[in-house]
Amino acid sequence: MRHLIQTTDLDKDEINIILNSAKNYLKDDVAQTLKGKMAITIFFENSTRTLSSFEIALKRLGASVVRLDVSKSSTAKGESISDTAANLNAMKPNAIIIRHKNAGAGDHLSKYVSCPIINGGDGAHAHPTQALLDLFTIQNHFKTTLEGKRIAIIGDIKNSRVANSNIELLGRYGMKITLVAPPHFLPKTDLPTTSDITSIIDSVDVLMSLRTQIERHDTQTYGSLKDYAHNFCITKELIRDKNIIILHPGPVNRNIDIEDEVLKDSRCKVLEQVTNGVAVRMAVMEHFILNH
Ligand code: NCD
Repeated sequence: MRHLIQTTDLDKDEINIILNSAKNYLKDDVAQTLKGKMAITIFFENSTRTLSSFEIALKRLGASVVRLDVSKSSTAKGESISDTAANLNAMKPNAIIIRHKNAGAGDHLSKYVSCPIINGGDGAHAHPTQALLDLFTIQNHFKTTLEGKRIAIIGDIKNSRVANSNIELLGRYGMKITLVAPPHFLPKTDLPTTSDITSIIDSVDVLMSLRTQIERHDTQTYGSLKDYAHNFCITKELIRDKNIIILHPGPVNRNIDIEDEVLKDSRCKVLEQVTNGVAVRMAVMEHFILNH
C-alpha cells in the first residue's frame, strides 16, 4: 500500500506524471475517473485552503467525500487516533486525508488502514501536496528546467512543514535555495542562510514567504510582528521592477508577510497557487486511489 506522507514518497518520474496530469486538470472538462470511489477527510487542525482543495479535487473527479467532524468525533471522547483510523478503515474508504498538529500522525495512521493515507500537513514535519503545487506553479511560470534557478524561502522556516517539504522537493529539481530569517526562525541546515533580505534580492528568481507559525511557538520569540515585518515583509520597495515571482502558501498575514501592494501585483502568484492546488490534488488523488 502506497501512502503520501512526505515528498520523498514519490520519485521524480511519478512526480512528473502527476504534474503532467495536473496540467490537464486546469481545464474545465474532466473525466469522472474516481466515480464510485469514496474518500474521508479528517482535519484535526484548522484549514481553509487545503481541506476545501482536497474535497473539491475529489468531487471534480466524481468521488464522494465524507468529512469527519473532529469536534464531534469520538477522538473528543478519548478514542485513540489508531482506533479512530481502524474504525474509519472498516467503512472501506478508498483514501483518507489527514491533517494533525503532531508530526508523524499520518505515518502512524497508515499502520492501521488498508487504503492510501494522504498527509494534509503534520505538525512542523511535512506538507507534500503544498510542495507539489508550489513546484507546479514555479514550473508553469518558467516553462523550462528549474536547474540552477534561485529561490529564497523567507520567514518562520524552523516551524514550517511547507518549508521542509519544499526544501526537499525544489532541491531535488535543482533549485538553489537560500533561507532568509531571523536566527531563531532558522533550522539546522547546510543551505546558505541570511537575515538580510536585501542581500539576496538581486540574485533570486523566486521569493517564497511563509507565515509566522505562532501556534507552534512555546514562548514569544520576537518583540512584535511589526518588528518582524520591518525586516522580512515583501514590499514594493524591496522588489521594485525585478523579474521575480512571489509565492506564499496562505494564510497571508497582510503587511507582515507580504505588503498589500505586492499582493495585487501580477508577479504575486498566491491565488494561482490556490487554483493550481486543486489541479495538483486531483492528479495526486487519482494517482494514489487508482494505482495503489
Ligand atoms: C500552511 C499550513 O497549514 O501548513 N497553509 C496551507 O496549507 N495552505 C501554512 C501555514 O499555515 O502557514
